[in-house]
Amino acid sequence: MTTMQESPTAAGSGANASQNFKAKVRDEAGTSPDRVSAVVTAVLQGVHAAIKEHNVTYPEFQAAKAWLMEVGEVGEWPLFMDVFVEHVIEEVAAQSQRGTLGTIEGPYYLPDQVRLEASCELPHRPEEEGAPLVLSGQVRDLDGTPLAGAEVDIWHADADGYYSGFAPDLPAGNLRGVVVTDAEGRFAIRTVQPAPYQIPTDGPTGKLIEAAGWHPWRPAHLHLMVRADGYRTITTQLYFAGGDWLDSDVAEATKPELILDPVDDGTGTRRTSYDFELEPA
Ligand code: DHB
Ligand code: FE
Repeated sequence: MTTMQESPTAAGSGANASQNFKAKVRDEAGTSPDRVSAVVTAVLQGVHAAIKEHNVTYPEFQAAKAWLMEVGEVGEWPLFMDVFVEHVIEEVAAQSQRGTLGTIEGPYYLPDQVRLEASCELPHRPEEEGAPLVLSGQVRDLDGTPLAGAEVDIWHADADGYYSGFAPDLPAGNLRGVVVTDAEGRFAIRTVQPAPYQIPTDGPTGKLIEAAGWHPWRPAHLHLMVRADGYRTITTQLYFAGGDWLDSDVAEATKPELILDPVDDGTGTRRTSYDFELEPA
């Protein structure tokens, strides 16, 4: 029930995200010293230029250091980086990709969730709130050949905007699953409508957003990772036509091609479809 749920703290969300992330990516980048030097020099030059352009003062510099320390102490770096930086990393990656458009992964992916048949319902609480939603579609390669046995790994926030694994009181695996496509590459996933997501307002990222007079919202979305043997995995999100914050996503991760427009089938269930096209790996 909504009323029973405590707000997840920024510290709680951030710390979980940190542990998961470090275990996954350690040592994978393999960046050469020349490249480290080139990229870090450019980043520092950007910081130096901002300081000069805005005549940043000593008190502001010290306040920035204290803020940076706090982001680390409460484990909010993954959250901060995915909100304010990941969309440009994704934009660069997208230049060499074909097929369905990707967008940011965000900090709340968890691997190894329950495997589900092509026609399925995501794990949920007995009284899960939110309008029933069915997402169906087909996974194909770029030539239109259906991909049987592809994985549609889906995760999303609940009707209060919270993700299982990162909020107190949500059962493990809630609203998460790895859906395996049928012989025709099709899937049909029953779940509930997620709410817009708000960056935790009690931590340093939230405080920065408030101090700058921005808003902390992302439009409601489904996260998806679609994979098949021999194909490039697509990491993307699907949004909802007419939803709040579509035009001002704090994470700048919306794309017009990724907006669903579900239709009520007359029983209160909203149905929509989306097909995924994967390019060869
Ligand atoms: C963040 C949260 C999300 O749900 C998302 O999709 C992207 C970023 C974040 O808090 O960083
Ligand atoms: Fe999200």
